[in-house]
Amino acid sequence: MEAVLKIQIPNDELHRRLGGGIPTGSIILIEGKKGAGKSILSQRLMYGLLRNGYSATYISSQMSTIEFINQMKSLGYDIIRDLVKRQLIFISLYPLFVNVTSRDKILPRLISEPRLWKTTVVIIDSLSSMLPDEVDEDVLRSFIVHLKRFGALDKVTIITVDPDDMDEHLLRILEEISTILIRLSVKVFGGDLKNSATIVKYNNAPGNFQKIIPFRVEPNVGLIVEIASVV
Ligand SMILES: Nc1ncnc2c1ncn2[C@@H]1O[C@H](COP(=O)(O)OP(=O)(O)O)[C@@H](O)[C@H]1O
Ligand SMILES: [Mg+2]
Repeated sequence: MEAVLKIQIPNDELHRRLGGGIPTGSIILIEGKKGAGKSILSQRLMYGLLRNGYSATYISSQMSTIEFINQMKSLGYDIIRDLVKRQLIFISLYPLFVNVTSRDKILPRLISEPRLWKTTVVIIDSLSSMLPDEVDEDVLRSFIVHLKRFGALDKVTIITVDPDDMDEHLLRILEEISTILIRLSVKVFGGDLKNSATIVKYNNAPGNFQKIIPFRVEPNVGLIVEIASVV
């Protein structure tokens, strides 16, 4: 297997700004508040990976399958064929949240379900909204061991979290075990809101990467990296 998974799509800057792809074995933690761009960035990474031939599983706490298909379509990311070919597996955990006590069972279930971990890439968006208020230490340890094993198989996990919605101790542990840490924020620039991704940590970066990547989201086009001078 190659050392770097490509994420390039036509007319794209993100691939280059991220140093030319994602190293195999990466555990990518994407942090951001509501609307900061956690879902959009994970959807863009997923789409890029699919277009370069890799398989992916997207586990969503937010969307039903129909909503996911519509969301991807509205971004200009056509994934219907990938779903049909099972190159892309979409899992909606949304109905589980009707019952808050069922959150206790989500991490153990994620770990113990081999079907979820067959693809090259697994995306969990967002982990913070799947977790109970208090995560059992043993469960957390098993989850981390599981992520590391998955990485050792040269696979990639992308996890999104909202720091406001998560135990601080747990967040620090996830930050420590992640090999790539991206913090998303929204800032006001000239009366406009701008999304921005800060690469806090990037282990085994394949090339030079940009530490702060401003971006916007456009209908039918998806995530667009802003030229640096704009922000
Ligand atoms: N399909 C879309 N078309 C246009 N803008 C979108 C679309 N999806 C998301 N956005 C915008 O992208 C930004 C980030 O959204 P999102 O990734 O859903 O945030 P988060 O997952 O961090 O809560 C928001 O400003 C949102 O309005
Ligand atoms: Mg989201």
